[in-house]
Amino acid sequence: MDISIRKGNLVQEKTDLLVVNLFEGEGDLGGATAAVNASLSGKLVTFAGDDGFKGKLGSTYLMHTDGAMTAKRVLLVGLGKKEDFSLEAVRQAAAVSLNTAKALGIKKISSVLHGAGAGELPARECARAMVEGVRLADYAFTKYKKAKHESPKTFDIVSKNGRDVRSGERGVQDGETYAIGVLFARDLVNTPGGDMHPEVLVEAAQEIVKGKGTLRVRVYDKEKLEKMGAGGLLGVAQGSDAPPYMVHMVYKPKGKAKKKVALVGKAVTFDSGGLSLKPSGAMETMKIDMAGSAAVLGVFAAIDQLAPNVEVHGIFGAVENMPSGRAIRPGDVITAMNKKTIEVLNTDAEGRLTLADTLSYAVKQKPDYIIDLATLTGACVVALGEEITAVMSNNAELAGQIVSTAAQAGEKMWEMPLEKNYRKLIDSPIADVKNIGSRWGGALTAGLFLQEFVDDVPWAHLDIAGPAFAERVIDPYTPKGATGHAVRTLLQLLSNI
Ligand code: BES
Ligand code: ZN
Ligand code: ZN
Repeated sequence: MDISIRKGNLVQEKTDLLVVNLFEGEGDLGGATAAVNASLSGKLVTFAGDDGFKGKLGSTYLMHTDGAMTAKRVLLVGLGKKEDFSLEAVRQAAAVSLNTAKALGIKKISSVLHGAGAGELPARECARAMVEGVRLADYAFTKYKKAKHESPKTFDIVSKNGRDVRSGERGVQDGETYAIGVLFARDLVNTPGGDMHPEVLVEAAQEIVKGKGTLRVRVYDKEKLEKMGAGGLLGVAQGSDAPPYMVHMVYKPKGKAKKKVALVGKAVTFDSGGLSLKPSGAMETMKIDMAGSAAVLGVFAAIDQLAPNVEVHGIFGAVENMPSGRAIRPGDVITAMNKKTIEVLNTDAEGRLTLADTLSYAVKQKPDYIIDLATLTGACVVALGEEITAVMSNNAELAGQIVSTAAQAGEKMWEMPLEKNYRKLIDSPIADVKNIGSRWGGALTAGLFLQEFVDDVPWAHLDIAGPAFAERVIDPYTPKGATGHAVRTLLQLLSNI
């Protein structure tokens, strides 16, 4: 599907579907909506009102023009209440129009630039949000399906305002960049564990850097990990037939870097729990346990195009967590890369063992700050539900920055505390630390565990266990399955620096 923005008069568009919008409870129509309504002798708004259309966000009213216009059909999309209006409404309105077109098998769409007129938002941001909404809504994971995925051919954003079109062109590019990152992550996370071994993630990293002068990658195999003392990665991997790898990608900007940031992702390609075996229901979605690394790879898939003035290090340790005669046992003690010892009481709390090494490694790169992303705890999903990521940090400013950047990028994140008084819950009688806390506050004791491996580098831990995968449709651009969550926030964070 081609998405573009151009100057033109919507009323004269020759198209299968003409998209205009309406705020909830507003008598005043926006310019384009008023013009289209006039071309239809006022019937669009009258009929829509008769049929109960109120302009609620995500609602639609479809009308055939019956030759009254060069467009075959007009779709009126609700933007919600004006006082609640934001780029998120723009994203959703664009996604809803794409979903409607897809359901009708429509090939050619011409849409108003939502938000730039009566919505009074900057045209570049509106265009970006529209492209994000359309691309993310259009996504389908069809690798294992016979039925082909049918998309519309063109989605044209049309505006009378030349200035809006010029800044909108940059917004369309921005939107494409962000979407590349999100969709790259979705594909990796949706891939079943049987086809997503640690080396597949290594290959994905190598594929991304190919031919890009700003990117390089270094891969550590099992032998190298043994020399480096990566007891966490080796311990988790020892029950699996698939060998472990650690991957270190680097992006260096063309100009001088303003900051150096390390992004660390959990990359457990399948989490059976190991000998602390999960019940079968809990295992059904555990192919998603590499979503943290998928977010990091998604960022790197888009970073050359985003071109932020930041040096970025992407690090993940890829392993599979399986039970076998060689598997790590409850009660075993391992030594992480920073020489701290860990009593492994539950082999299903494996993500933190892998992060113990990859965070220790990230510290050695001397970054200004570290952000890790991990589908780390079921407890986090209990606390914040399926749509919100928990942010834990040793640096209040960094935590605040991440939460507000997430809101800017249209993702939901919320800070949770690294409560000092809970640190004793992970004291071990025989090692420096144990890998589980008590029954309560499981997301926080996991965060406190990770803190043992970051020294005093400013660091934030993002527990994405809930939002990484949608068990149901979340919104018009987040269908069931992998979401690519956190990619937009990270790209936004890097581009804001
Ligand atoms: N990968 C899981 C966490 C998870 C749960 C992610 C649900 C996504 C959805 C993690 O490795 C795990 O199993 N954590 C345990 C920790 C416990 C044993 C302390 C958990 O949350 O139950
Ligand atoms: Zn686990
Ligand atoms: Zn896990």
